[in-house]
Amino acid sequence: MTDATPVVVLVSGSGTNLQALLDACDDPAYGVRVAAVGADREGIAGLERAEAAGVPTFVLRVSDFETREAWDVALADRVAAHAPELVVLAGFMKLTGPAFLARFGGRTLNAHPALSPSFPGMHGPRDALEHGVKITGATLFLVDEGVDTGPIVAQVAVPVLDDDTVDSLHERIKTSERGMLVEWVGRLARDGYSTDGRRVTSPRKKESA
Ligand code: GAR
Repeated sequence: MTDATPVVVLVSGSGTNLQALLDACDDPAYGVRVAAVGADREGIAGLERAEAAGVPTFVLRVSDFETREAWDVALADRVAAHAPELVVLAGFMKLTGPAFLARFGGRTLNAHPALSPSFPGMHGPRDALEHGVKITGATLFLVDEGVDTGPIVAQVAVPVLDDDTVDSLHERIKTSERGMLVEWVGRLARDGYSTDGRRVTSPRKKESA
């Protein structure tokens, strides 16, 4: 068994995706270690989950910086201090900027609660429901400079039910999203991955096949 891959997770809210990763990391065979959890706001369950797991946390609020660019540089510095191989945005409700992507582009993952390229932005479940689609889902992708536009690592489909509300649909998506996130963060960490244009592949290593 090689050393676990260090990952920094960024959160803004309830942190159920973070919790799923933390739980998976309890198994050494998973091959991932959450080195730190960062947030853009105080007082969220995501930070409490990290603290309960004994993981270091940090908070960087955009409003504490003169400019968005200064916040972005500070975020990159704080993440870099934990030397992650991968960064996971798990319900992080801020766009990372050029300074962050200059250091962590190509190895920052984000989960989006819709099937990209449909319904990008902050309201994926609401927009899918309003559009009347019968299938939506969640997408794991490598962050680029766009909004939910980066190369797709994995997707999971979720049915939309006739009596769904935005909340019931989002909760059903999140259940599938957590499984996808845990599976693919583990695979990318253990097996590596490559990108060819927009196509991301992660061939399984023999010993983990
Ligand atoms: C997840 O559904 C995630 O995809 C979404 O927020 C939720 C976070 O849940 N992220 C975005 O919409 C990012 N634009 P959690 O805090 O319980 O993990």
